Amino acid sequence: MPVVEVVRGDITSEDVDAVVTAANESLLGGGGVDGAIHRAAGPRLAQAGAALAPCDPGDAVATPAFDLDPPIRHVIHTVGPVWEGGGHGEADVLASCYRRSLEVADEIGARSVAFPAIATGVYGFPADQAAKIAISTIRATPTRVERVRLVAFDDATYELLTAALQG
Ligand code: AR6
Repeated sequence: MPVVEVVRGDITSEDVDAVVTAANESLLGGGGVDGAIHRAAGPRLAQAGAALAPCDPGDAVATPAFDLDPPIRHVIHTVGPVWEGGGHGEADVLASCYRRSLEVADEIGARSVAFPAIATGVYGFPADQAAKIAISTIRATPTRVERVRLVAFDDATYELLTAALQG
């Protein structure tokens, strides 16, 4: 099982092999964390994404990290669920995002991976529930990844992830 760390910051400056982006099915980029990662990686990221699109909610695919600062070498694009009240399988789709991202990390040989709080921004997934799903799924997924960093962009997310990690 990987060491799991919760940190506050910007995922584009993480000291990891791979960063996960909270993408949409087009893999062309967007706002939020996806926008930040695409800006830092440069336009080749969208070109590489387009070649692999569409990506279903709950699935994940990898591309190079292009202009992102080393040691980041890979971007893992995963598509979260759009929150529709919780009765449409959103929790299962979110768990699948974390599981598939770790599986893809294994396929590309990444040993350290940073995740944002997938689906908790534009897609509206409640952050407290999302934090518990993130931690429980990472713990339940067999992987060769040694270090997982959960990167919170705001204090509330940081507190929720820390509580879930300790729970
Ligand atoms: N580093 C870490 N976390 C960040 C950063 C950053 N630089 N910027 C924002 N966050 P969101 P979603 C946090 O909306 O809900 C895009 O347009 C943010 O505060 O980025 O899955 C995609 O293209 C929040 O906690 O992703 C899709 O269309 C978390 O990242 C759609 O938004 C996720 O918020 C996906 O929506």
